Amino acid sequence: EAGALWGGRFAGGPSPELARLSKSTQFDWPLAPYDIRGSRAHARALAAAGYLSAEELAAMIAGLDTLDAAITDGSFQPAESDEDVHSALERGLIDIVGAPLGGKLRAGRSRNDQVATLIRMLLRDKAASISAHLITVIDALAAQAEANETAIMPGRTHLQHAQPVLLAHHLFAHCWPLVRDLERFTDWGKRADYSPYGSGALAGNTLGLDARLVATDLGFGHVVENSIDGTASRDLVAEFAYITAQIGIDISRLAEEIILWNTREFGFVTLDDSYSTGSSIMPQKKNPDIAELARGKSGRMIGNLTGLLTTLKGLPLAYNRDLQEDKEPVFDSIDTLEVLLPAFAGMIATLTFHTERMAELAPAGYSLATDVAEWLVKQRVSFRDAHEITGLLVKYAEQNELELHEVEDSALLAISPHLTPEVRSVLSIHGSVEGRDGQGGTAPVRVAEQRAVLVARVRVL
Ligand code: ARG
Repeated sequence: EAGALWGGRFAGGPSPELARLSKSTQFDWPLAPYDIRGSRAHARALAAAGYLSAEELAAMIAGLDTLDAAITDGSFQPAESDEDVHSALERGLIDIVGAPLGGKLRAGRSRNDQVATLIRMLLRDKAASISAHLITVIDALAAQAEANETAIMPGRTHLQHAQPVLLAHHLFAHCWPLVRDLERFTDWGKRADYSPYGSGALAGNTLGLDARLVATDLGFGHVVENSIDGTASRDLVAEFAYITAQIGIDISRLAEEIILWNTREFGFVTLDDSYSTGSSIMPQKKNPDIAELARGKSGRMIGNLTGLLTTLKGLPLAYNRDLQEDKEPVFDSIDTLEVLLPAFAGMIATLTFHTERMAELAPAGYSLATDVAEWLVKQRVSFRDAHEITGLLVKYAEQNELELHEVEDSALLAISPHLTPEVRSVLSIHGSVEGRDGQGGTAPVRVAEQRAVLVARVRVL
């Protein structure tokens, strides 16, 4: 019956309405394999403290192994009467090893320290798998940068043409936030390296169990310093949800650009057929649905984070049942990224960039004007005057429907005696890009260095 873990002091079983509300097996089942590992470790700690004989421990571990296999092959499932994954697994263990032995496992632990530990274990694994997916996105971007090494595109601010940049520089600009997301997981992992097992319900346990033994067994470097904090905090879950939301946002900003680049007006990219969709009514359509879903799903992941933070904000110490609400949002963000990132990586890897179109548009909108102003500075004109002179040049070119390099020598000199015909040396997109050779700039030599640093940074993670 429901309430199997806590029926003693109650006159009857829980109402069906309570049981239905309270139930979490429909979403906490992914914790099952971690609960089994926790139980093995806890059984060893009980044996080390003298609460299980060697034979009992062996029978317990064998029973847990049997249950583990039944979870893996799907033959053990949550029953209608199970409140949560922890109650289901106790029921399963007792079915296998019998109540006299199975009933001993719960000594000295609470579902509160259990669940706080298990979610950290699961999230540590997911940090690794999401990181691996993220690396495939970074690799796809880096491979496109390499394949289009010399391509120059219009760099924009305010979505207006600003200055020409290497396409590779722009693609790497999308890689760096993703690299920082990887590093965020690594850094989060240091804080998540503390096991709450042994904290009990909130105050610890009286049985002299060795929490270090359990922590080491479960792959944690440390035990939490405070049992109340160990059972009541979920900031690590929220931080994880933040990292997933940030990944969603980083991917979404790139998605938005791909959607724009894929329009007829931009014409910068063509999506591979296998990574685009059609329309049910318009036969000609080829839509960037992966990019749109990436943009859309970022909203969902932000919502998951916001919901979780809101759940946590008013909770008094220590454990409150509200904390059960930590799982669905963060599990949803994980599932979302695990489906999204492979599709996104494939879309990037198979994009065709129309580099001649990008190069043609790169100087348009007088995007070389800053190069003219800086050339004047190199002739020892003050930047204030250089800005003014170049502004007059742009005005003249605009009025006469010319590009900057098409303005005749006499018109140049009429605008300013400093504007000698030599200024044309900087009026090419290649010259412009090559000139921006300070660290982090778009000059090809710097972008090549940048790639090397990026590859090295990703490799050490
Ligand atoms: N299923 C709960 C959770 O996820 C753990 C159970 C704790 N329940 C309790 N009544 N103390 O947080």
